[in-house]
Amino acid sequence: MCGIVGYVGDQNACDIIIDGLKKLEYRGYDSSGIALCKDGKLEVHKYKGRISNLEDAISEKNLSSSIGIGHTRWATHGAPSDVNAHPHTNLNKTIAVVHNGIIENFVELKEWLIKDHDIVFNSETDTEVIAHLISVFYEGDLTDAVYKAVEKMRGAYALGVVCSKEPDKLVAVRKDSPLVVGLGEGCNFIASDIPALLKHVRKIYLIENNETVVLTKNKVTLYNAERQEVKRDVFHVTWDADAAEKEGYDHFMLKEIYEQPKGIFETLTRRLNEKDEINLDGISMTKEDIERFNKVYIVACGTAYHAGMVGKFIIEKLAKVPVEIDVASEFRYRDPFVDDKTLFIAVSQSGETLDTLAALREAKRKGARILSIVNVVGSSVARESDDVFYTWAGPEIAVASTKAYTTQLVCMYLIALYMGRTKDCLPVEQYNHYVSELKDIPDKIKQILNQEKNILNMAKELYKQEQVFFIGRGPDVGVSYEGSLKLKEISYINSFAIAAGELKHGTIALIEQDTLVIALATQDALFEKMLSNIQEVKARGAYVVGLAKENNKEIERQSDKVIYIPECMDEITPLLSVIPLQILAYHIAKLRGCDIDKPKNLAKSVTVE
Ligand code: M6R
Repeated sequence: MCGIVGYVGDQNACDIIIDGLKKLEYRGYDSSGIALCKDGKLEVHKYKGRISNLEDAISEKNLSSSIGIGHTRWATHGAPSDVNAHPHTNLNKTIAVVHNGIIENFVELKEWLIKDHDIVFNSETDTEVIAHLISVFYEGDLTDAVYKAVEKMRGAYALGVVCSKEPDKLVAVRKDSPLVVGLGEGCNFIASDIPALLKHVRKIYLIENNETVVLTKNKVTLYNAERQEVKRDVFHVTWDADAAEKEGYDHFMLKEIYEQPKGIFETLTRRLNEKDEINLDGISMTKEDIERFNKVYIVACGTAYHAGMVGKFIIEKLAKVPVEIDVASEFRYRDPFVDDKTLFIAVSQSGETLDTLAALREAKRKGARILSIVNVVGSSVARESDDVFYTWAGPEIAVASTKAYTTQLVCMYLIALYMGRTKDCLPVEQYNHYVSELKDIPDKIKQILNQEKNILNMAKELYKQEQVFFIGRGPDVGVSYEGSLKLKEISYINSFAIAAGELKHGTIALIEQDTLVIALATQDALFEKMLSNIQEVKARGAYVVGLAKENNKEIERQSDKVIYIPECMDEITPLLSVIPLQILAYHIAKLRGCDIDKPKNLAKSVTVE
């Protein structure tokens, strides 16, 4: 969590940094700040609340400087406040630091700094320790002092550091938190993520773990932990800067919902040749590997985990291999049965989720083959995997994940189909049928998007509800979890998802007059069972919104309201049924006046445990 930006060059650092921070607000938005170096002094401004608070506060000050760092925060140590906001400085305000991550041994370091160096702390943050540590080690060379400070630190960090005594230099370090460097003409940049830099540069260095970067306006030098210079290939960003803009939509979430046909088309067609065979270009997994795997483990968090729930269903069905699925924060602290016959699939939009990354490392340590499904090219999960199956969703800015989920599902289908064919357990006719159905999905999603007005009208009737249950069977269970998460995270309605057959084992006690139940009944094979479950909740007074394929009109007799999705194979429905749930959540949240793209207490990229 948290976003950092830094600039050194001939333009006004203040404007560039503020603009970059706005592109990173998805990483955290409870406070923000900036430190600029001018006339041998550091000027620091930081405020609780959104970046607009910082902007308003400095708007009349006409700040200008050729070097600076900025930060947008998601609080870990210390509540959101002006004092706890970054940047943090040393006592005589010559060194300023912005930090994304957590310093695990900060209490111990703080005690040492207080006892041996008489440091008086200002904030409750772990980051302030870093500013004082660098100051203690500073003997005229900022890079050297940063190295010495980092040697004392344990945890995860991406740091940006400036010093008023070396006003032409910016030093940055990365360990486990993302950091990129933008290479300009007569200027250079650091940031937590590429969108912050796209207005200015297309040439990027992706910084590796334990690397330190020294930037001046004309030079960028990378060093490893042993202080040796390292060379890095330039990564050229090809996607459009507009991809990270709202383009007339009220919210990024709505824009991203509408981008799903395109994202799915891209993710699919980049892996299909003209004969509709799946190509694994860039993936080194062989037929022998696939035949050797006796288990697949899917590990992820949040929405990506929900994609994994559907993935388990699909891979088991098409590739005939047992699939286990776990949330990353649980996986890493168990002792799971993973070995060199395990295919470990890490799913992550950002590729920076710390729990997923730690689980991946644990699986790797046990000998598993790591295949990740990732959206952000060059992210940590992508770099630490044996192979990467990229989703081609484009940048996802809204905290509530939409297009990442559906493109992750497409990857699951492709992996399952590829494994099924390779192992010869999926007949070619069935394979062709699946591929043809998948290719129809973008158009079918467009048909659902055309129903937005109807779903808005439904939202107008439902938005005052304070409790919602999502139920489903088979692959609809994973979609129910995802629909429920979408609703709760952006509208703050208490929503709950459960396998429909489980209701009667306890949860049905909560159903009373007018309780809203959203019942997913997209599976032909399970349709009648779902109708029984709907009757059970109706009998207790529930208000039911049924979701079914358009030919299953029987649902109208059992439900108060119905949402239809176009006809398709049972196995493919998760790609369609989630779309109306995303739209419904969006409109309910909007009607409730919620801040949709930046829900409270959340951040897009969860880089803490
Ligand atoms: O970047 P990741 O896919 O690893 O993120 C995992 C979760 O934090 C994420 O899916 C989260 O649940 C969604 N933003 C919720 O919409």
